[in-house]
Amino acid sequence: MKLSKRIQAVTPSATMALSSRAKELAKQGKDVINLSIGEPDFNTPSFIGQAAIEAINENLTDSYTPAGGLPELKQKIAERINSEHKTIFSSQNIAVTTGAKYALYALAQVLLNPGDEVLIPLPYWVSYGEQVKLAGAKPIFVKPEKGLKVTPADLQNYTHNSTKMLIINSPNNPSGQVYTKAELIAIGKWAAERQITIIADDIYGKLIYNQTQFTSLLDLDDDIRQNVILIDGLSKTYAMTGWRVGYIAGDSNLITALNSFLSHSTSNLSAVSQYAALAALTGEQACVENMRQEYEKRLNILAPLLDGVEGFKLIEKPQGAFYFFPDISEALKLTGYKTANDFALALLEKEGVATVPGEAFGYPEHLRISYAADLDRIKEAINRMKKFVNK
Ligand SMILES: Cc1ncc(COP(=O)(O)O)c(C=O)c1O
Repeated sequence: MKLSKRIQAVTPSATMALSSRAKELAKQGKDVINLSIGEPDFNTPSFIGQAAIEAINENLTDSYTPAGGLPELKQKIAERINSEHKTIFSSQNIAVTTGAKYALYALAQVLLNPGDEVLIPLPYWVSYGEQVKLAGAKPIFVKPEKGLKVTPADLQNYTHNSTKMLIINSPNNPSGQVYTKAELIAIGKWAAERQITIIADDIYGKLIYNQTQFTSLLDLDDDIRQNVILIDGLSKTYAMTGWRVGYIAGDSNLITALNSFLSHSTSNLSAVSQYAALAALTGEQACVENMRQEYEKRLNILAPLLDGVEGFKLIEKPQGAFYFFPDISEALKLTGYKTANDFALALLEKEGVATVPGEAFGYPEHLRISYAADLDRIKEAINRMKKFVNK
């Protein structure tokens, strides 16, 4: 069978590849500590599941919903965004999607033409580039001159006439870095002046640690935020990855176009997930803070331990999300592995610790280590890494 050129140009998800090898080894009886996963290790709070069960029992979930989501859910999402960012969205400004991943995919399909260029700052979440390619457009990866965040000067170096979009992900997967308000204003102004649309992927916006101030691009002045499309979802905040609840907030014309796209692709997000989402957004929010505090505790305990692994260097301590992204270039020299990919594979096979090599995010001398896992198991994993490097 001859596959399309489109799909042949796509690289399979590296995070999924390592995580499935980890699962395979675990199945064979090996004691594997899987730190490659990008999802909360908590169960979905029980009141959310309970609301879903009730919706099923009341036969509310038997039918299609509007493609862009239940009106009451869109209304609730709009209210939530308005209360957090002082925006004036209504349900006409919201489309509910099958995860934030599909929200991004749908946006690429609706906004990009062949030949359009999309600026993607490094390090970047694995799917951005591939989704842009699937829309026939061109991902342009922007490496920060300094540190792990881009500036307008960095972006300018990669900007051409065909530059149409910029994706900003703060807190960032994989680096855990959070853009400051001043940094976002500079980027926002730069993009607005050039009519480059900004996609703000705020999916980790509730996972912020140690008094770091989170600013969304939607918090900025109208001249900036009119040019911003928000992507968010419930996966990380409410430990709901399997429910696949994502959403887009933006201009109502864009949402109309997205509804049309959704109506021909997924139709609606499954109705039961939409009722669960409604419960998550309207119910008691203590669960969100409890999970955040647990990640923060892990971050503060583990960061110095990880920094203590010979050859590992945390350029900046993460301020959000749930990943470490140390520079392991010295550890590569010590162990003789050429790339983080070789290093990560050997670490998995020899010590049973699964991580994600930095190649997947545009940094071949880094490793992504998730701390969305049991604290003692991560400590054990760090001990194994020490052993692995010092062998
Ligand atoms: C930066 C970023 N954006 C979007 C997503 C997609 O999340 P979901 O599709 O579960 O809503 C992820 C998931 O890992 C992510 O890390």
